[in-house]
Amino acid sequence: MSLFRTKAIQLNLDEPNRVLHRCLNALDLTLMGIGAIIGAGVFVLTGVAAATKAGPAISISYIISGFACLCAALSYAELAASVGGCGSAYSYSYATFGEIIAWIIGWDLLLEYTMSVSTVAIGWSGYVNDVLKAMNINIPTALYKNPFEGGFINLPAVLIIVFLSVLLSLGVKESSRFNALIVSIKLIAIAIFVGVASQNINLENWHPFAPFGWTGIMQGGAIVFFAYIGFDAVSTTAEETINPQRNLPIGILASVVICTLIYILVSALLTVIVPYTTLNVSSPVADALLRLHYPIAAGLVAVGAIAGLTTVMLVMYYGLTRICLAISRDGLLPNFFSRIYPRTKTPVLIIVLSGIVIAAIAGFVPIGQAAELVNIGTLSAFTLVCGGVLVLRRTQPNLKRSFKVPFSPLIPLLGIFSCIYLMLNLPALTWWRFGIWLIVGLMVYFGYSKTHSLQK
Ligand code: ALA
Repeated sequence: MSLFRTKAIQLNLDEPNRVLHRCLNALDLTLMGIGAIIGAGVFVLTGVAAATKAGPAISISYIISGFACLCAALSYAELAASVGGCGSAYSYSYATFGEIIAWIIGWDLLLEYTMSVSTVAIGWSGYVNDVLKAMNINIPTALYKNPFEGGFINLPAVLIIVFLSVLLSLGVKESSRFNALIVSIKLIAIAIFVGVASQNINLENWHPFAPFGWTGIMQGGAIVFFAYIGFDAVSTTAEETINPQRNLPIGILASVVICTLIYILVSALLTVIVPYTTLNVSSPVADALLRLHYPIAAGLVAVGAIAGLTTVMLVMYYGLTRICLAISRDGLLPNFFSRIYPRTKTPVLIIVLSGIVIAAIAGFVPIGQAAELVNIGTLSAFTLVCGGVLVLRRTQPNLKRSFKVPFSPLIPLLGIFSCIYLMLNLPALTWWRFGIWLIVGLMVYFGYSKTHSLQK
């Protein structure tokens, strides 16, 4: 059955024409993970989810989502180090479940990454506009809102994507250096918040702790799951990492563990310093500090949020280009896209084309809260990656695994169940939208990819 043809694992590791630059170390990967993870989720969604779903128990929602992510991250670490390939869940699925499943998950990842970069670009533009307004600089509506909202183009969102595409084209090391600098700014901003908040604890704000009960906590978990997305992008560096068998598991796991601890701390502090009912605003973390009369700290946190959103876009955009590269190399998308520009050793054509798509969405389309769509896409990828560990342990027991998920099959199974459970807590509309995207994907597969696949 050609639909289920699999790709041999050594092919993934030894592409003869692979000319990406192997230059990233474990620290680069950890910082890229933190860069991709900490962003709109913690700086924006925490407030909405606390105010409307979980109440102060939002920190429990973070623990539950974090647990699902940790199980998935362990599975990613095993497959990234043993199967490799810059296509992440797409590459692992190709080696385990066969082409059609790989295509579906690859198509799903394209949605996840494109929508997350576009959504974050719009959020970034909102924050930048606020800062400019505070400095008495007003961008005309035509250049700040999309045509559906009475403007012409969201120019700041387009410009940040243009900037990031130039940076990504210049080289992966250059991008990772920029990422490290901006990540340190966002970590300093979080440290400032923690420092100020811990002086202003008011336990009254934790009564009641879980006003919407267990249902609210779970629904909150399904929303703040967005905050964890990004560690999977680390696995797309497999072909640009020095000693990937060692460094990929370190980068993936270190970034998830560090961010989980930060999230639990920040969400607990946020809800204990102000009443959760006041948090349903676009910048809840900075806003809470303003309420407590710390305008300078609030300003610094806002700068940190802008920095955070920048690196999320950078690393997710990077991941998108590497997944496109993997898919087009296999012929499921046009093969000529996968050309690597020899001087910078980056897939410039893919970077430019995907940048145009992201900028067009961010600049002209009112996507509003696409976070839930991103979540469902990611959760299905995580489910498959956890399943991939179980399947590959059976089908290829002798595969060299430099990292193994502990307590398998328990951890991958817990990962599968918790991801599916979180998916079930997402709204029906999200499921419909996701289903439509997958149907379009199947049409592309049967119309183009199946006949152009390089796997015989
Ligand atoms: N985890 C990323 C964020 O929160 C997508 O912005």
